[in-house]
Amino acid sequence: MAKAKTKFVCQQCGYESPGWLGRCPDCKGWNTLTEEIKIEKRGRLPVEGPLTEPQPISEISAEEAERLPTGLGELDRILGGGIVPGSVILIGGDPGIGKSTLLLQVSYQLSLKEHPVLYVSGEESAGQTRLRARRLGASSSQLFLVCEINLEVIENHISKLSPKVVVVDSIQTVYRSDIPSAPGSISQVRESASSLIHLAKREGISIFLVGHVTKEGAIAGPRVLEHMVDTVLYFEGEVQTNLRILRAVKNRFGSTNEIGIFEMGEEGLKEVANPSELFLAERPLNVSGSMVVPCLEGSRPLLVELQALVSPGSFSMPRRLVSGVDYNRACLLFAILEKRGGLRLQNQDIFVSLAGGLSLREPALDLGMAIAVASSFRDISTPPKMVSIGEVGLAGEVRAVSRPSLRIGEAARLGFTECLIGRSNLRALKQNNNIKCIGVGTVAEALDIALSSP
Ligand code: TYD
Ligand code: MG
Repeated sequence: MAKAKTKFVCQQCGYESPGWLGRCPDCKGWNTLTEEIKIEKRGRLPVEGPLTEPQPISEISAEEAERLPTGLGELDRILGGGIVPGSVILIGGDPGIGKSTLLLQVSYQLSLKEHPVLYVSGEESAGQTRLRARRLGASSSQLFLVCEINLEVIENHISKLSPKVVVVDSIQTVYRSDIPSAPGSISQVRESASSLIHLAKREGISIFLVGHVTKEGAIAGPRVLEHMVDTVLYFEGEVQTNLRILRAVKNRFGSTNEIGIFEMGEEGLKEVANPSELFLAERPLNVSGSMVVPCLEGSRPLLVELQALVSPGSFSMPRRLVSGVDYNRACLLFAILEKRGGLRLQNQDIFVSLAGGLSLREPALDLGMAIAVASSFRDISTPPKMVSIGEVGLAGEVRAVSRPSLRIGEAARLGFTECLIGRSNLRALKQNNNIKCIGVGTVAEALDIALSSP
């Protein structure tokens, strides 16, 4: 018998090589190449069906199809106002974070509106999913469940049932029998996803795909998977805490800066309607090293607390640990504080964290971080009803940030009475009677105001 021809494929990036390599030359990953059977290239196939005709763009009808609301407001906002028919949405996240729970809840909500929904589970038995559904109170005659991993069978079920929405949990378990490599391998994931995407576009069915993540936190399988689908969402959070954050990293039908915040409870995921209150709930008052910053996540203002702890280091190399904020940005601010604020931080251990397990990249956090660090260093607490907004430049100047009124409005709503803000922002600001805005030009000025103990 002739020996089957094989090739080696990098499971991270899809690079192909005729022989085994210890390190992928493309993505530089170690030990990522595995052997897969080579599929014989067929010649060019004759074109079937009617030929497509190019049309002038002005003549193409562009009525926006009606979006399906999912029944979960947070998810709808991330998607840009509901599910677009025919779109394919990929959801990634750590094991046990709640992907299956979220999608089962969404399926249930959709099925209540008389849309048939098919939930394909490749990881759990029907009994297990039924148990979970009972716990979530998700039982409906329009929600169909099937445990299947063969793609042809799944496609069969879809054409028989003609559901509006299909959930495939997870894409790594699905396999096409005409492809010889194992389920979960890069070729299988790519080809199965591509078949499902074609099906979605052809029939106008929306498909949710669950994707596993690698140790590094990216969706396992080829990067191309993220290029192929319409929307990529990541479900994040610490498995130990109840807080879960859904974040869009790609969205062809909406913005990508939106996040959705959920709480995992006994009866599944609940939306958090008032995240600022949640993040500030455990805030200690009159303790040094804490500052509240009104951030923006997409279109929504969000109040977060920055905490810093500065203590004399016992090693020649002081320690700098940050969580939830950018490490390099934090180090830059320490240097600015040293040079422009006159703080001797070089022999101090510094720890900075964003309370509540959030992770944000926002320039507006700069001023708050600088104040928190200085407050802990001098051991002077900041006024408990003060917030600060501002980006800090290398010369120690406080710069303007986007949409200040929205941020200040949220701070006022939660009972804050003072706000430190860059001077250039202050000029363009609308008057808000509930909160006093204090313009500052430099970090040193801001420190003087925030740390002048009463
Ligand atoms: P799951 O959706 O199975 O995670 P994934 O599909 O991302 O791997 O989530 C399972 C976790 O959620 C598990 O640790 C239990 C917890 N959970 C609750 O706390 N409450 C609930 O109502 C449900 C259904 C799960
Ligand atoms: Mg699961």
